[in-house]
Amino acid sequence: MANAVHCRGVWKLFEAGTTRITALQNVSLDIGDGEFVTLVGASGCGKSTFLRTLAGLEAHTAGEIEAGGVRITGPGVDRAMVFQDYSLYPWLTVTENIKFTRQLSAHTRDRTSSDVEAAAGRAEALVRLMGLAAVASAYPNQLSGGMQQRVAIARALMSRPRILLMDEPFGALDAQTREVMHDLILHVSELEHCTVVFVTHDVEEAIYLGRRVVVMAPRPGRIDSIYEVPLPARRVQDMKHTRAFLELKTQILERIRSTSGMRTDTDLLQKLSQRAPDPSGLSTTERTLDP
Ligand SMILES: Nc1ncnc2c1ncn2[C@@H]1O[C@H](COP(=O)(O)OP(=O)(O)OP(=O)(O)O)[C@@H](O)[C@H]1O
Ligand SMILES: [Mg+2]
Repeated sequence: MANAVHCRGVWKLFEAGTTRITALQNVSLDIGDGEFVTLVGASGCGKSTFLRTLAGLEAHTAGEIEAGGVRITGPGVDRAMVFQDYSLYPWLTVTENIKFTRQLSAHTRDRTSSDVEAAAGRAEALVRLMGLAAVASAYPNQLSGGMQQRVAIARALMSRPRILLMDEPFGALDAQTREVMHDLILHVSELEHCTVVFVTHDVEEAIYLGRRVVVMAPRPGRIDSIYEVPLPARRVQDMKHTRAFLELKTQILERIRSTSGMRTDTDLLQKLSQRAPDPSGLSTTERTLDP
């Protein structure tokens, strides 16, 4: 069977005035069918660009890129994207939002009554799967952030995509809601048999969800390293406290720090504050003691 995603030597250049930005440099990556892969890396390393390229929303400059063995030339029903902002239609209920996928609505004229019935059945099943039955008739402004994101995920799943592309989908949620969403997305992706490519800034999230964690580096945007996650496939929250988890977290954080070119050590901060002119004319000690 073809890989869900196959990339070889993918480049993406952006022209911004007279400057040229290499958002993706020679990216090669294969993702297996049903695999859950997470992407982390410093801001600007090309995570979103890579995801948008896979979605077919961005044309790549050079290289080979395929989904399910088919060259990607634009968006397709085999791929769906979920963003950080839930982008729901405020005038539609939960169920209506889920049913209203761009792909399905584009072909409304060709749809038969059995298509409509099948869509209604699928939407209802997704409402139940995502734990939204109690709010099926509610509008987005009546829902919490976590619920809204569950609606957005259900909508993305409506067309039965083989690949789910998620760009920091839980970035706006609080820590407890995020944990719930992590277990939910793992469960749902397994039930729906979809491959997931998941972008995050949160290394803990990347390890908990991913079978592999891809670390990207900026300037130029590229793949720096890939880590296999040494945890059982079925994840439980307690695994976050295991030695294997914590060691991998330290290793990846260190890698991101060293590739980002940003240093935050206390020596450096001290040097910077010594150099800064003091507008009050007081010493550091006096300023600290002053209430
Ligand atoms: N439409 C565009 N035009 C010009 N440059 C762009 C465009 N989109 C992205 N870039 C540049 O490409 C590089 C990669 O951007 P991208 O948004 O993919 O990074 P990212 O890893 O998702 O960052 P973040 O973690 O902040 O979301 C950056 O230097 C960015 O400024
Ligand atoms: Mg991004």
